[in-house]
Amino acid sequence: MQAQAAATAEDAVTSPSAPVGDPELREHSAADYPALSALWADDADGAALGLSAADSLAGISQFFARNPGLSFALWEGPQLIGSVLAGHDGRRGYLYHLVVRADRRRHGYATLLVERAMSALAAAGIQKTHAMVYAANEQGLEFWRRSGFVTRVELVVLSRETGISSGSTSPVPEARHVAGGA
Ligand SMILES: CC(C)(COP(=O)(O)OP(=O)(O)OC[C@H]1O[C@@H](n2cnc3c(N)ncnc32)[C@H](O)[C@@H]1OP(=O)(O)O)[C@@H](O)C(=O)NCCC(=O)NCCS
Repeated sequence: MQAQAAATAEDAVTSPSAPVGDPELREHSAADYPALSALWADDADGAALGLSAADSLAGISQFFARNPGLSFALWEGPQLIGSVLAGHDGRRGYLYHLVVRADRRRHGYATLLVERAMSALAAAGIQKTHAMVYAANEQGLEFWRRSGFVTRVELVVLSRETGISSGSTSPVPEARHVAGGA
């Protein structure tokens, strides 16, 4: 029995597709950044997330510091298999970069992450939350719609640079940044 458990734990480290029991949901912290950037970079359709210089270690650390207890990670042993970033401005909530590792999709893990983040936002007094999704990401849009999010056809997101340089390194090469990032 012990030998079997040891073999299972070893498989989890050496083989990315070997599950290790139920995944554990935990609050994100800046210490997760190496695993998080690897999960983002691993995503074959990483453009779906719209990564940019705002997703550097400095940017994400600042996001977690400003929004404690709202972003969640799903761990299978030492492996990060899912993540959602959540924050609010005191008025509305925002969800970003929801991702589940490709070989763990369609098990309800994204739903688990989103519902946990929504509960945390509700506990912070936030009544409504927006999800930023690229219009071309049809699978992502389908997930959000199935989760009760409604496309706001009457609204358009407009963005402008403030003029400062990010001064930090993005987790993906600049060539893969998506039109300024969300
Ligand atoms: C979108 C994503 C996060 C969904 O993760 P997931 O863990 O597979 O999602 P769930 O298992 O919780 O799916 C819940 C429901 O959403 C819908 N859904 C999820 N993925 C879907 C897909 N690829 N196509 C159509 N519907 C989908 C289904 O209705 C699903 O229920 P079902 O499996 O019983 O049919 C995952 O596919 C992913 O990481 N994609 C790449 C990154 C991305 O696009 N993120 C969203 C942009 S912010």
